[in-house]
Amino acid sequence: MNLALRWRIVLLGLAFTAAPAFAAGATAAPATTQPAAAPLAQRPGHAAIASANFLATNAGFEVLAKGGNAFDAAVAVASTLSVVEPESSGIGGGFMATLHVAKTNRDVFLDARETAPAAVNPKDYLNPDGTPNRDAALKGPLSAGIPGEPAGLVWLAKHYGRLPLKDSLAPAIRIARDGFKPDPRLLASIKGEQKDLERWPASAAKFLPGGKPPAAGAVWRDPNQARTWERVAEKGDAGFYQGETARKLVAAVRAAGGNWTLADLAGYRAKERQPIVIDYRGYRIVTAPPPSSGGVAMAEIFNILSGFDLSKMDQAHRVHTIVEAMRRAFRDHNDYLGDPDFVKMPLAMLLSPYYADGLRQSILPDRATPSSMLPHGPAHDPGMHTTHFSIIDKDGNMVAITSTVNYILGSTFVAGDTGVLLNDEMDDFALVPNKPNVYGLLGSKANAPEGGKRMLSSMSPSIVIGPERTAVIGSPGGSTIITQVMEGILHFVEGQSAQQIVSDKRFHHQFLPDVVDVEDGVFDAATSAELKRMGYTLKPREPWGFMNVVTWDRRTNTLDAASDPRRPSGLGKVQ
Ligand code: GLY
Repeated sequence: MNLALRWRIVLLGLAFTAAPAFAAGATAAPATTQPAAAPLAQRPGHAAIASANFLATNAGFEVLAKGGNAFDAAVAVASTLSVVEPESSGIGGGFMATLHVAKTNRDVFLDARETAPAAVNPKDYLNPDGTPNRDAALKGPLSAGIPGEPAGLVWLAKHYGRLPLKDSLAPAIRIARDGFKPDPRLLASIKGEQKDLERWPASAAKFLPGGKPPAAGAVWRDPNQARTWERVAEKGDAGFYQGETARKLVAAVRAAGGNWTLADLAGYRAKERQPIVIDYRGYRIVTAPPPSSGGVAMAEIFNILSGFDLSKMDQAHRVHTIVEAMRRAFRDHNDYLGDPDFVKMPLAMLLSPYYADGLRQSILPDRATPSSMLPHGPAHDPGMHTTHFSIIDKDGNMVAITSTVNYILGSTFVAGDTGVLLNDEMDDFALVPNKPNVYGLLGSKANAPEGGKRMLSSMSPSIVIGPERTAVIGSPGGSTIITQVMEGILHFVEGQSAQQIVSDKRFHHQFLPDVVDVEDGVFDAATSAELKRMGYTLKPREPWGFMNVVTWDRRTNTLDAASDPRRPSGLGKVQ
């Protein structure tokens, strides 16, 4: 990059604030986004899996025992979560995956995000008086994008797996057919959404057997979903996107007022993309590019932080510095980002360490920068009903997958007798320009809905390769995904174990609203008082996230796996 361009980028970073600058103590070389080789010739010899449900973690190990690798195990875990944790992700949703392929020492990003149907019409998301129709955006078939999950899993198996789909999908098919005891979170989700589930006969038939939510401790079966996975096992993509399943999906969607066509389904493709690679203090962070905003936002945050020595700060100043980095990253991310196949994004600027230099100079040493002093950008979606799992296999293959149907039980719409619960991912588009959605969000043009376009996501599945230790990390949590994963990576770089990382108390800031969300106990009284004196509004919030992390200490060749203690159904296991 020539000197003139570097200075233009630094000045752009500075130009966004009228706050007086101070010289941040530059204690580390600026982070870059240049990929560096990750020489991992070593093999762990064992495997580790951490997911949101013990049945899914065990399904992964079952497939490893059949001779599968991490990618086959990922197919088993994701498809099993579709059955046992349908409130968070599933066959009618989509996912994003960061992969490390040991044999070729290659990092890959797989985008199985949903797309808008070709007939998407922004007017469908407005009431007759022009106000946003939140029901259309969040419930029923209009809220659903064309699913990416089946295509993504078929891609994983075909390009990276060792086993046929019939083996890697076998645990999910068996559990759906024979039944399982839903955990308290799924039962609460069904009870919470009962009124909406009752609106569609197929949704009621699946989730309200005998007209009621399943009883605690009772076995619950989903034979329709089992049959749909069987068609995928037999025919691959064609088992979902063509033929019987496709016809049934389209008929059910259209009969209930949706606009999908067979061509929408037949045209869906999972896509490999270049992951974002961040170099932070000698750690290579491989993470999600657009259409996720996560990697770009984390790159900005880590690039800003690389100019500070957090280890020399008291807790209040450490939090202040991190929150100011979050504020500046979140200010940018919704303004610019969308589906790279549809929008041009200034990624070179946003990822540049020189741009971060400018942003860093605008941080005051002892004072919060009010978000109102930075040019306006929208806040982002804090939806919480997604799932993440992490895998390392004995050969050192790694998989980080964050998967979602968006809000709790997605659209609550089940398509006919397919057993497919559709997502409500259309709400992740900026459906109504300049109108806030249910979370007070304003949308930008980059994320406006268009036929075939992927809606912006916060999903940030990440692989972190340090000089001696490696982590596979991610979490659900809407916009808090980005700050959770960023805080988790920071703690990993600082030497924490998998169990410590998932257990750490959390804080979150996302530019707007101009508050810091705090989990009970995250700060001591003196730190809270000091942060308030600096100008922060601290907002207590119920615990959030469901982080599932595996780590590999290459010095001792030890694997570790941990699931977030906030949700007891999860399981991290090494075997
Ligand atoms: N649906 C939540 C996300 O993708 O960020």
